[in-house]
Amino acid sequence: MRIRPARPGDLDGIVELETAAFPPEDCFPRRSWRRLLTRPSAVVLVTAGPLDGSIAWLLRDGTTVARMYSLAVHPRARGQGLGRQLIAASLRRLPRHLDRLSLEVRRDNGPAVGLYCAVGFVETARLRDYYGSGRHGIRMTARRDSVATMLHIRP
Ligand SMILES: CC(C)(COP(=O)(O)OP(=O)(O)OC[C@H]1O[C@@H](n2cnc3c(N)ncnc32)[C@H](O)[C@@H]1OP(=O)(O)O)[C@@H](O)C(=O)NCCC(=O)NCCS
Repeated sequence: MRIRPARPGDLDGIVELETAAFPPEDCFPRRSWRRLLTRPSAVVLVTAGPLDGSIAWLLRDGTTVARMYSLAVHPRARGQGLGRQLIAASLRRLPRHLDRLSLEVRRDNGPAVGLYCAVGFVETARLRDYYGSGRHGIRMTARRDSVATMLHIRP
């Protein structure tokens, strides 16, 4: 599937995808996505054609760490390698100096934790009640070149 940079006009599609992909309490508000789509310090990619997948990274000044903001694949498109493809496509677009990757994920999110482990992320912190009371998270980090190797792409 072709993957391209997101545009402001993708806002509705991204919000629809989020609603289909996440439980309501885990969706980012529409206004956060609107801001992100015009922010130069973010990399946001979507699938071309049906908007079945999206990935967003936050880039902050003064750090060499890129932080994953969101990754979503529509339920109808799961299990076909799209999550992996979105990570690979986005790595190619992150500025060169960002050599480490970081993300937070719900500890009980088996598919996402499985995907991140499969591409080389490891758990580096436990985040108690991170997503609300009783909804624990973990932080996972990876070297960019390790993930690239796991995905068979150039770092
Ligand atoms: C997590 C998510 C993005 C995975 O997308 P996907 O396109 O189905 O993933 P892929 O097909 O690329 O799978 C790649 C690897 O991830 C792991 N994986 C995927 N689905 C899995 C599952 N249900 N259980 C365990 N591991 C799984 C496997 O290691 C898989 O490799 P394999 O197919 O060789 O076994 C998707 O399930 C999703 O959008 N979930 C809801 C949103 C979400 O939780 N996002 C992450 C928030 S931090």
